[in-house]
Amino acid sequence: MSNTRANKRFRSQEWFDNPNNANMTALYLERYQNQAFTREELQSERPIIGIANTGSDISPCNKIHVFLMDRIKAGIRDGGGIPMEFPVHPIQETGKRPTAALDRNLAYLSLVEVLHGYPLDGVVLTTGCDKTTPAQLMGAATVDIPAIALNGGPMLDGWWKGKRAGSGTIVWESRRLLAEGVIDYEEFMQRVCASAPSLGHCNTMGTASTMNAMAEALGMTLTGSSAIPAPFRERMEMAYQTGKRAVEMVFENLKPSDILTREAFENAIVTNTAIGGSTNAPPHLQAIARHAGVELDVKDWQEIGHGEPLLVNMQPAGTYLGESFHRAGGVPAVMAELAKAGRIREGAMTATGKTMGENLKGKESVDHDVIRPYDRPLREHAGFIVLHGNLFDSALMKTSVISEDFRRRFLSHPGHEGVHEARAIVFEGPEDYHDRINDASLGIDENSILFIRGVGCVGYPGSAEVVNMQPPDALLKAGINHLPTVGDGRQSGTSESPSILNASPESVVGGGLAYLRTGDMVRLDLNEGTMNALVPEDEWARRRSEWTPPEIVHQTPWQEIYRSTVGQLAQGGCIELATAYQRVVKHLPRD
Ligand code: FES
Ligand code: MG
Repeated sequence: MSNTRANKRFRSQEWFDNPNNANMTALYLERYQNQAFTREELQSERPIIGIANTGSDISPCNKIHVFLMDRIKAGIRDGGGIPMEFPVHPIQETGKRPTAALDRNLAYLSLVEVLHGYPLDGVVLTTGCDKTTPAQLMGAATVDIPAIALNGGPMLDGWWKGKRAGSGTIVWESRRLLAEGVIDYEEFMQRVCASAPSLGHCNTMGTASTMNAMAEALGMTLTGSSAIPAPFRERMEMAYQTGKRAVEMVFENLKPSDILTREAFENAIVTNTAIGGSTNAPPHLQAIARHAGVELDVKDWQEIGHGEPLLVNMQPAGTYLGESFHRAGGVPAVMAELAKAGRIREGAMTATGKTMGENLKGKESVDHDVIRPYDRPLREHAGFIVLHGNLFDSALMKTSVISEDFRRRFLSHPGHEGVHEARAIVFEGPEDYHDRINDASLGIDENSILFIRGVGCVGYPGSAEVVNMQPPDALLKAGINHLPTVGDGRQSGTSESPSILNASPESVVGGGLAYLRTGDMVRLDLNEGTMNALVPEDEWARRRSEWTPPEIVHQTPWQEIYRSTVGQLAQGGCIELATAYQRVVKHLPRD
């Protein structure tokens, strides 16, 4: 061991080696000794590294971590630390009702208590499925003990009849074909299940791959860690190296607050554009930034990210899936392309102990069909547009998924490019949408915009991924696959729909969407960045004054606590009071 390791006193020794409080030390020792550890180990000058295990039978996207634990622990041991695995509240995107988004803040909250209240000196965060990544980065930011993230990795590529079948993305395509009568129920099931051939998280550039790329771009992982598919040999190697590195980080006292700086978030935003990342990234990064005490605003996504190009040819914005992305070089190759163009803040510190610029040296794309060079992108100006108007203070639109057909139909009116005026059809949540979307009396045609409300953080609760609404069957059969859609909820990161989403504030707390009615004309102006209901001001004011909030029904205690503490998506959907707690590791809990 190097000299930097001499004479360190660790936080965990306050529990296990505290001569000033023999009673408590004995109690701590006897119960941790009874399972696996010796007194010599627990009292040695070796840091205890927690491993936050998010994998379990009810979290299939993260289940691989159950099998990676041995490798992580071996790395921690070989690095000179002592591993202590503990469970994290599960967050399975495709299992948790009413939505996994409700559980992000709960997992965050419980992780803060574990990291603060137990004898841990550092932590390995096992990430994967959508919200598991931000929940843990938020928790590590609040506590501020040395922390490093390890993704479980995406599934192998899915295939259906010789074509790549991407997680989620094939669902949106197949449900359209089912509605059109092109395929039957059985084929629908087979197509969707073909997209999940192994352990791992979604193999598209959905929210899981995006948030893990964000963890890497923020500097919270080892270089090249996020994109390795779950079953690959390199995934096990990365688990070992990550465990080992976690120990060094404790000796170096390298904390989230050293890594999660404004520069790191700017790197994440430009990387998000280049990968064609999920619209769920802005609220999650906003939440991480707020817990880290970094200034970030939803408008930064347009200012910093919109002008950047799309470099990664991966579904839903492109063609390929996770295996190709990893083989082409993964996140370091994308960031190296951005760095060559001067778009990366290379001085940002990372979990490797080196700067981002140092980590990216020698990295490059080895397959220019999958990861394009900066000057030959798939699309220019591919980031999010942040809209505002009388319907919301902010909402996002992902421009990298606007198809040529969509642009021609809705955004290419001669002399009014980027402007679309249409009749609003308003749905009160997904049940109402499913009940009425094929109701001919609504008169939904090519000149309609579909709205959905009551599906934000407070309304749903948790904010639902339902804004990418499919047009009525009659329009689908006529070849119109997408209508513009707008809502105060979110949409799946695997969706190829250019919806306008995350509208904040949401309708149930009195945001502008609450006053919209079916039949109102609405104007979208991408040049100005606005969306407005074309309703006379006095009429709008009258509706506002007559509005009464809808009745909210909680089904569990957490739903009530969540709703009474959560903010809006534009501000990250955080537990608002929690953002006041920062670097809580400074204060040792009472004995
Ligand atoms: Fe878990 Fe997509 S559903 S990663
Ligand atoms: Mg999702």
